Amino acid sequence: MVGTHPVDLAAFVESTSLGRRLWLRGAGRSLYPLLRSGDSIQVLRCGPEELSRGDVALVRVGRRLIAHVVVSTGPLVTASLLGHGDPEGVPLGRVTALRRGWWILPLPRVTRPSLFLGQRLASALWARPVARGAARRLRDFTFSGWSRPVRARWLGRLEVRLLRAEDLDALLVFAGERLLVSSVFLRRQLLGRWAREGGAVGASAGAFDSAGRLCGFAYLDSYREEGLALDGLWVRSLVVAPRARRMGVAHQLLTCLVEAARKQGEECIFADVDEDNAASLRTFRRVGFRFSPPELIRRVNAEWDASGGSKPLVVLERALD
Ligand SMILES: CC(C)(COP(=O)(O)OP(=O)(O)OC[C@H]1O[C@@H](n2cnc3c(N)ncnc32)[C@H](O)[C@@H]1OP(=O)(O)O)[C@@H](O)C(=O)NCCC(=O)NCCS
Repeated sequence: MVGTHPVDLAAFVESTSLGRRLWLRGAGRSLYPLLRSGDSIQVLRCGPEELSRGDVALVRVGRRLIAHVVVSTGPLVTASLLGHGDPEGVPLGRVTALRRGWWILPLPRVTRPSLFLGQRLASALWARPVARGAARRLRDFTFSGWSRPVRARWLGRLEVRLLRAEDLDALLVFAGERLLVSSVFLRRQLLGRWAREGGAVGASAGAFDSAGRLCGFAYLDSYREEGLALDGLWVRSLVVAPRARRMGVAHQLLTCLVEAARKQGEECIFADVDEDNAASLRTFRRVGFRFSPPELIRRVNAEWDASGGSKPLVVLERALD
Protein backbone atom coordinates (compact mmCIF):
# COMPACT_ATOMS: atom_id res chain seq x y z
CA MET A 1 0.00 0.00 0.00
CA VAL A 2 1.23 3.44 -0.83
CA GLY A 3 1.71 6.33 1.53
CA THR A 4 2.06 4.53 4.83
CA HIS A 5 4.34 1.86 6.21
CA PRO A 6 2.48 -1.46 5.63
CA VAL A 7 2.54 -2.45 9.29
CA ASP A 8 1.17 0.94 10.40
CA LEU A 9 -1.51 0.76 7.73
CA ALA A 10 -2.62 -2.72 8.80
CA ALA A 11 -2.82 -1.54 12.42
CA PHE A 12 -4.79 1.53 11.30
CA VAL A 13 -7.32 -0.56 9.35
CA GLU A 14 -7.69 -3.06 12.19
CA SER A 15 -8.31 -0.27 14.69
CA THR A 16 -11.18 1.08 12.55
CA SER A 17 -14.49 -0.08 13.99
CA LEU A 18 -16.65 -2.61 12.13
CA GLY A 19 -19.24 -1.04 9.81
CA ARG A 20 -17.07 1.99 8.99
CA ARG A 21 -15.77 2.77 5.50
CA LEU A 22 -12.30 4.04 4.65
CA TRP A 23 -10.32 4.79 1.49
CA LEU A 24 -6.91 3.19 0.88
CA ARG A 25 -4.51 3.60 -1.98
CA GLY A 26 -2.65 0.56 -3.28
CA ALA A 27 0.01 -0.67 -5.63
CA GLY A 28 0.18 -3.88 -7.64
CA ARG A 29 -1.26 -5.64 -10.66
CA SER A 30 -2.93 -8.66 -9.13
CA LEU A 31 -6.48 -7.45 -9.92
CA TYR A 32 -5.59 -5.76 -13.21
CA PRO A 33 -7.59 -4.51 -15.17
CA LEU A 34 -10.17 -4.11 -12.39
CA LEU A 35 -7.60 -2.34 -10.20
CA ARG A 36 -4.45 -0.57 -11.41
CA SER A 37 -1.45 0.50 -9.39
CA GLY A 38 -2.24 3.85 -7.80
CA ASP A 39 -6.02 3.31 -7.72
CA SER A 40 -7.84 3.68 -4.40
CA ILE A 41 -10.32 1.27 -2.86
CA GLN A 42 -13.14 1.96 -0.44
CA VAL A 43 -13.24 -0.70 2.25
CA LEU A 44 -16.19 -1.50 4.50
CA ARG A 45 -14.78 -2.93 7.74
CA CYS A 46 -16.53 -6.24 8.38
CA GLY A 47 -15.94 -9.71 9.78
CA PRO A 48 -15.29 -12.86 7.69
CA GLU A 49 -18.92 -14.02 8.10
CA GLU A 50 -20.05 -11.10 5.92
CA LEU A 51 -17.84 -12.09 2.98
CA SER A 52 -19.12 -14.24 0.11
CA ARG A 53 -17.58 -15.78 -2.99
CA GLY A 54 -16.95 -13.10 -5.61
CA ASP A 55 -16.53 -10.27 -3.09
CA VAL A 56 -13.24 -8.38 -3.18
CA ALA A 57 -11.86 -8.68 0.36
CA LEU A 58 -9.10 -6.74 2.10
CA VAL A 59 -6.89 -9.26 3.89
CA ARG A 60 -3.76 -8.92 6.01
CA VAL A 61 -1.23 -11.57 5.00
CA GLY A 62 1.86 -11.30 7.20
CA ARG A 63 2.96 -7.66 6.94
CA ARG A 64 1.07 -7.01 3.71
CA LEU A 65 -2.46 -5.83 2.97
CA ILE A 66 -3.97 -7.34 -0.16
CA ALA A 67 -7.32 -6.81 -1.89
CA HIS A 68 -8.23 -10.04 -3.71
CA VAL A 69 -11.32 -11.95 -4.85
CA VAL A 70 -12.94 -14.36 -2.35
CA VAL A 71 -12.92 -17.79 -4.03
CA SER A 72 -14.11 -19.85 -1.05
CA THR A 73 -15.69 -19.08 2.32
CA GLY A 74 -15.25 -22.29 4.29
CA PRO A 75 -12.40 -21.70 5.05
CA LEU A 76 -11.99 -18.20 3.62
CA VAL A 77 -9.64 -18.25 0.61
CA THR A 78 -8.81 -15.22 -1.56
CA ALA A 79 -6.92 -15.14 -4.85
CA SER A 80 -5.60 -12.69 -7.43
CA LEU A 81 -7.39 -12.59 -10.79
CA LEU A 82 -5.00 -15.15 -12.29
CA GLY A 83 -3.97 -16.97 -9.10
CA HIS A 84 -5.15 -20.06 -7.25
CA GLY A 85 -5.21 -18.97 -3.61
CA ASP A 86 -3.31 -16.71 -1.24
CA PRO A 87 -1.61 -17.86 1.96
CA GLU A 88 -4.00 -17.73 4.92
CA GLY A 89 -4.58 -14.20 6.20
CA VAL A 90 -6.78 -12.09 8.46
CA PRO A 91 -9.85 -10.71 6.62
CA LEU A 92 -10.39 -7.03 7.42
CA GLY A 93 -13.22 -5.89 5.19
CA ARG A 94 -14.99 -5.80 1.85
CA VAL A 95 -14.16 -3.49 -1.06
CA THR A 96 -17.26 -1.48 -1.96
CA ALA A 97 -15.90 0.99 -4.53
CA LEU A 98 -12.83 1.79 -6.64
CA ARG A 99 -11.47 5.22 -7.45
CA ARG A 100 -9.23 6.03 -10.42
CA GLY A 101 -8.45 9.75 -10.62
CA TRP A 102 -11.83 11.49 -10.39
CA TRP A 103 -13.75 8.41 -11.45
CA ILE A 104 -15.51 6.32 -8.77
CA LEU A 105 -16.81 2.86 -9.65
CA PRO A 106 -19.15 1.29 -7.05
CA LEU A 107 -18.65 -2.44 -6.54
CA PRO A 108 -22.15 -3.59 -5.50
CA ARG A 109 -22.76 -7.17 -4.39
CA VAL A 110 -24.64 -7.98 -7.64
CA THR A 111 -21.19 -8.12 -9.33
CA ARG A 112 -20.22 -11.13 -7.16
CA PRO A 113 -21.22 -13.98 -9.53
CA SER A 114 -19.48 -12.39 -12.52
CA LEU A 115 -16.32 -11.63 -10.55
CA PHE A 116 -16.22 -15.14 -9.12
CA LEU A 117 -16.76 -16.77 -12.53
CA GLY A 118 -14.31 -14.38 -14.20
CA GLN A 119 -11.62 -15.25 -11.63
CA ARG A 120 -12.20 -19.00 -12.03
CA LEU A 121 -12.03 -18.82 -15.83
CA ALA A 122 -9.02 -16.49 -15.97
CA SER A 123 -6.98 -18.49 -13.42
CA ALA A 124 -7.76 -21.82 -15.18
CA LEU A 125 -6.68 -20.33 -18.51
CA TRP A 126 -3.53 -18.77 -17.05
CA ALA A 127 -2.46 -22.13 -15.61
CA ARG A 128 -1.84 -23.30 -19.22
CA PRO A 129 1.67 -22.57 -20.55
CA VAL A 130 0.20 -22.16 -24.07
CA ALA A 131 -2.03 -19.31 -22.90
CA ARG A 132 0.84 -17.60 -21.07
CA GLY A 133 3.08 -17.92 -24.14
CA ALA A 134 0.37 -16.47 -26.38
CA ALA A 135 -0.19 -13.55 -23.98
CA ARG A 136 3.56 -12.81 -23.94
CA ARG A 137 3.77 -12.90 -27.74
CA LEU A 138 0.74 -10.62 -28.05
CA ARG A 139 2.31 -8.16 -25.58
CA ASP A 140 5.68 -8.18 -27.41
CA PHE A 141 3.92 -7.58 -30.71
CA THR A 142 1.74 -4.79 -29.29
CA PHE A 143 4.75 -2.94 -27.86
CA SER A 144 7.21 -3.49 -30.71
CA GLY A 145 8.50 -0.96 -33.27
CA TRP A 146 5.32 -0.52 -35.35
CA SER A 147 3.39 0.96 -32.40
CA ARG A 148 6.18 3.35 -31.34
CA PRO A 149 4.66 6.53 -32.90
CA VAL A 150 1.28 5.84 -31.26
CA ARG A 151 2.92 5.10 -27.91
CA ALA A 152 5.11 8.20 -28.16
CA ARG A 153 2.04 10.38 -28.64
CA TRP A 154 0.25 8.64 -25.77
CA LEU A 155 3.18 9.11 -23.37
CA GLY A 156 3.89 12.72 -24.34
CA ARG A 157 7.25 14.32 -23.54
CA LEU A 158 9.36 12.02 -21.36
CA GLU A 159 11.50 13.38 -18.56
CA VAL A 160 14.40 11.21 -17.38
CA ARG A 161 16.16 12.33 -14.21
CA LEU A 162 17.46 11.32 -10.79
CA LEU A 163 14.66 10.61 -8.32
CA ARG A 164 14.04 12.83 -5.29
CA ALA A 165 12.17 12.30 -2.03
CA GLU A 166 8.96 13.75 -3.47
CA ASP A 167 8.92 11.02 -6.15
CA LEU A 168 8.35 8.32 -3.53
CA ASP A 169 4.64 7.79 -4.30
CA ALA A 170 5.26 7.47 -8.05
CA LEU A 171 8.10 5.05 -7.35
CA LEU A 172 6.02 2.85 -5.06
CA VAL A 173 3.21 2.68 -7.63
CA PHE A 174 5.71 1.64 -10.32
CA ALA A 175 7.40 -0.84 -7.96
CA GLY A 176 4.07 -2.43 -7.06
CA GLU A 177 3.45 -3.08 -10.75
CA ARG A 178 6.85 -4.02 -12.07
CA LEU A 179 9.60 -4.57 -9.48
CA LEU A 180 10.41 -7.40 -7.12
CA VAL A 181 12.17 -5.01 -4.72
CA SER A 182 10.38 -4.37 -1.43
CA SER A 183 8.76 -0.98 -0.97
CA VAL A 184 10.35 -0.74 2.49
CA PHE A 185 13.83 -1.01 0.92
CA LEU A 186 13.03 1.56 -1.77
CA ARG A 187 11.58 4.03 0.73
CA ARG A 188 14.61 3.67 3.02
CA GLN A 189 17.13 4.16 0.21
CA LEU A 190 15.30 7.01 -1.54
CA LEU A 191 14.81 8.99 1.65
CA GLY A 192 18.19 7.99 3.13
CA ARG A 193 21.36 6.92 1.30
CA TRP A 194 20.41 8.25 -2.16
CA ALA A 195 19.36 11.65 -0.80
CA ARG A 196 22.03 12.41 1.81
CA GLU A 197 23.04 16.00 1.14
CA GLY A 198 26.66 16.28 0.16
CA GLY A 199 27.29 12.58 0.90
CA ALA A 200 24.79 10.53 -1.09
CA VAL A 201 25.81 6.94 -1.86
CA GLY A 202 24.16 5.45 -4.92
CA ALA A 203 21.19 6.97 -6.72
CA SER A 204 18.01 6.11 -8.54
CA ALA A 205 16.76 7.37 -11.88
CA GLY A 206 13.26 7.43 -13.29
CA ALA A 207 11.48 8.26 -16.55
CA PHE A 208 8.23 10.20 -16.20
CA ASP A 209 5.54 10.52 -18.88
CA SER A 210 3.65 13.78 -19.42
CA ALA A 211 1.04 12.71 -16.82
CA GLY A 212 3.79 12.33 -14.19
CA ARG A 213 3.64 8.52 -14.14
CA LEU A 214 6.88 6.61 -13.84
CA CYS A 215 7.48 4.41 -16.89
CA GLY A 216 11.10 3.40 -16.31
CA PHE A 217 13.40 2.98 -13.33
CA ALA A 218 16.85 1.80 -12.26
CA TYR A 219 18.97 2.29 -9.19
CA LEU A 220 22.63 2.18 -8.30
CA ASP A 221 23.75 0.90 -4.93
CA SER A 222 26.07 -1.44 -3.09
CA TYR A 223 25.14 -5.12 -3.18
CA ARG A 224 26.04 -5.22 0.51
CA GLU A 225 22.77 -3.31 1.11
CA GLU A 226 21.03 -6.47 -0.14
CA GLY A 227 23.25 -8.85 1.79
CA LEU A 228 25.66 -9.94 -0.99
CA ALA A 229 29.42 -9.79 -0.38
CA LEU A 230 30.34 -7.83 -3.51
CA ASP A 231 32.19 -4.52 -3.62
CA GLY A 232 31.38 -1.42 -5.64
CA LEU A 233 28.14 0.13 -6.88
CA TRP A 234 25.84 -1.97 -9.07
CA VAL A 235 23.02 -1.02 -11.42
CA ARG A 236 19.93 -2.81 -10.16
CA SER A 237 16.26 -3.21 -11.18
CA LEU A 238 16.53 -1.66 -14.63
CA VAL A 239 12.96 -1.93 -15.92
CA VAL A 240 11.10 0.04 -18.58
CA ALA A 241 7.32 -0.34 -18.82
CA PRO A 242 6.35 -2.05 -22.12
CA ARG A 243 4.52 1.09 -23.30
CA ALA A 244 7.82 3.05 -23.20
CA ARG A 245 10.20 0.44 -24.63
CA ARG A 246 12.49 0.93 -27.66
CA MET A 247 12.41 4.70 -27.20
CA GLY A 248 15.82 5.11 -25.60
CA VAL A 249 14.48 5.29 -22.02
CA ALA A 250 16.84 2.64 -20.60
CA HIS A 251 19.75 4.36 -22.35
CA GLN A 252 18.89 7.67 -20.67
CA LEU A 253 18.35 6.05 -17.26
CA LEU A 254 21.79 4.45 -17.39
CA THR A 255 23.40 7.67 -18.60
CA CYS A 256 21.85 9.45 -15.59
CA LEU A 257 23.23 6.85 -13.15
CA VAL A 258 26.68 6.90 -14.78
CA GLU A 259 26.77 10.68 -14.30
CA ALA A 260 25.64 10.40 -10.66
CA ALA A 261 28.35 7.79 -9.94
CA ARG A 262 30.97 9.98 -11.54
CA LYS A 263 29.93 12.92 -9.33
CA GLN A 264 30.17 10.65 -6.28
CA GLY A 265 33.79 9.92 -7.17
CA GLU A 266 33.36 6.27 -8.26
CA GLU A 267 35.96 4.94 -10.67
CA CYS A 268 33.86 2.08 -12.00
CA ILE A 269 30.29 0.77 -11.72
CA PHE A 270 28.96 -2.74 -12.37
CA ALA A 271 25.88 -4.57 -13.62
CA ASP A 272 24.88 -8.22 -13.77
CA VAL A 273 22.52 -9.43 -16.44
CA ASP A 274 20.93 -12.80 -17.28
CA GLU A 275 23.16 -14.16 -20.02
CA ASP A 276 20.17 -14.71 -22.34
CA ASN A 277 18.76 -11.17 -21.90
CA ALA A 278 19.80 -9.77 -25.28
CA ALA A 279 17.86 -6.50 -24.90
CA SER A 280 19.48 -5.71 -21.58
CA LEU A 281 22.99 -6.68 -22.72
CA ARG A 282 22.67 -4.46 -25.77
CA THR A 283 21.39 -1.59 -23.62
CA PHE A 284 24.36 -1.77 -21.24
CA ARG A 285 26.89 -2.17 -24.08
CA ARG A 286 25.48 0.94 -25.82
CA VAL A 287 26.22 2.98 -22.68
CA GLY A 288 29.84 1.83 -22.66
CA PHE A 289 29.70 -1.17 -20.30
CA ARG A 290 32.24 -3.93 -21.09
CA PHE A 291 32.44 -7.54 -19.88
CA SER A 292 34.16 -7.93 -16.51
CA PRO A 293 37.07 -10.35 -15.94
CA PRO A 294 35.98 -14.04 -15.60
CA GLU A 295 37.00 -14.10 -11.92
CA LEU A 296 34.37 -11.45 -11.02
CA ILE A 297 31.72 -13.20 -13.15
CA ARG A 298 32.45 -16.45 -11.29
CA ARG A 299 32.22 -14.74 -7.89
CA VAL A 300 28.91 -12.99 -8.73
CA ASN A 301 27.35 -16.26 -9.89
CA ALA A 302 28.58 -18.01 -6.74
CA GLU A 303 27.05 -15.27 -4.55
CA TRP A 304 23.72 -15.51 -6.36
CA ASP A 305 23.73 -19.33 -6.29
CA ALA A 306 24.28 -19.20 -2.54
CA SER A 307 21.27 -16.90 -2.14
CA GLY A 308 18.98 -19.04 -4.31
CA GLY A 309 19.49 -17.46 -7.75
CA SER A 310 19.23 -19.83 -10.69
CA LYS A 311 20.04 -18.26 -14.08
CA PRO A 312 23.68 -17.80 -15.20
CA LEU A 313 24.68 -14.13 -15.17
CA VAL A 314 27.21 -12.11 -17.06
CA VAL A 315 28.86 -9.14 -15.36
CA LEU A 316 29.59 -5.85 -17.05
CA GLU A 317 31.48 -2.82 -15.84
CA ARG A 318 31.77 0.79 -16.89
CA ALA A 319 34.94 2.71 -16.17
CA LEU A 320 34.30 6.37 -15.24
CA ASP A 321 37.33 8.36 -16.19
C1 LIG B 1 15.99 -4.19 -21.28
C2 LIG B 1 15.11 -2.95 -21.22
C3 LIG B 1 15.39 -2.24 -19.89
C4 LIG B 1 15.47 -2.02 -22.41
O1 LIG B 1 14.72 -0.81 -22.27
P1 LIG B 1 14.42 0.16 -23.50
O2 LIG B 1 14.06 1.48 -22.95
O3 LIG B 1 13.46 -0.47 -24.42
O4 LIG B 1 15.86 0.24 -24.22
P2 LIG B 1 16.36 1.42 -25.15
O5 LIG B 1 15.23 1.90 -26.00
O6 LIG B 1 17.08 2.45 -24.34
O7 LIG B 1 17.38 0.65 -26.08
C5 LIG B 1 18.75 0.51 -25.75
C6 LIG B 1 19.40 -0.40 -26.77
O8 LIG B 1 18.95 -1.74 -26.61
C7 LIG B 1 18.31 -2.20 -27.80
N1 LIG B 1 17.13 -2.96 -27.44
C8 LIG B 1 16.15 -2.61 -26.57
N2 LIG B 1 15.21 -3.57 -26.52
C9 LIG B 1 15.63 -4.55 -27.36
C10 LIG B 1 15.09 -5.80 -27.74
N3 LIG B 1 13.93 -6.26 -27.22
N4 LIG B 1 15.79 -6.55 -28.63
C11 LIG B 1 16.96 -6.13 -29.14
N5 LIG B 1 17.52 -4.94 -28.82
C12 LIG B 1 16.86 -4.15 -27.94
C13 LIG B 1 17.90 -0.95 -28.53
O9 LIG B 1 17.77 -1.19 -29.92
C14 LIG B 1 19.04 -0.02 -28.20
O10 LIG B 1 20.17 -0.34 -28.98
P3 LIG B 1 20.53 0.56 -30.27
O11 LIG B 1 20.80 1.93 -29.70
O12 LIG B 1 21.72 -0.11 -30.83
O13 LIG B 1 19.33 0.53 -31.15
C15 LIG B 1 13.60 -3.28 -21.34
O14 LIG B 1 13.41 -4.12 -22.47
C16 LIG B 1 13.03 -3.98 -20.10
O15 LIG B 1 12.58 -3.33 -19.17
N6 LIG B 1 13.05 -5.33 -20.10
C17 LIG B 1 12.49 -6.11 -18.99
C18 LIG B 1 13.32 -5.99 -17.74
C19 LIG B 1 14.77 -6.33 -17.96
O16 LIG B 1 15.11 -7.31 -18.62
N7 LIG B 1 15.65 -5.52 -17.32
C20 LIG B 1 17.07 -5.72 -17.37
C21 LIG B 1 17.52 -6.39 -16.13
S1 LIG B 1 19.29 -6.48 -16.08
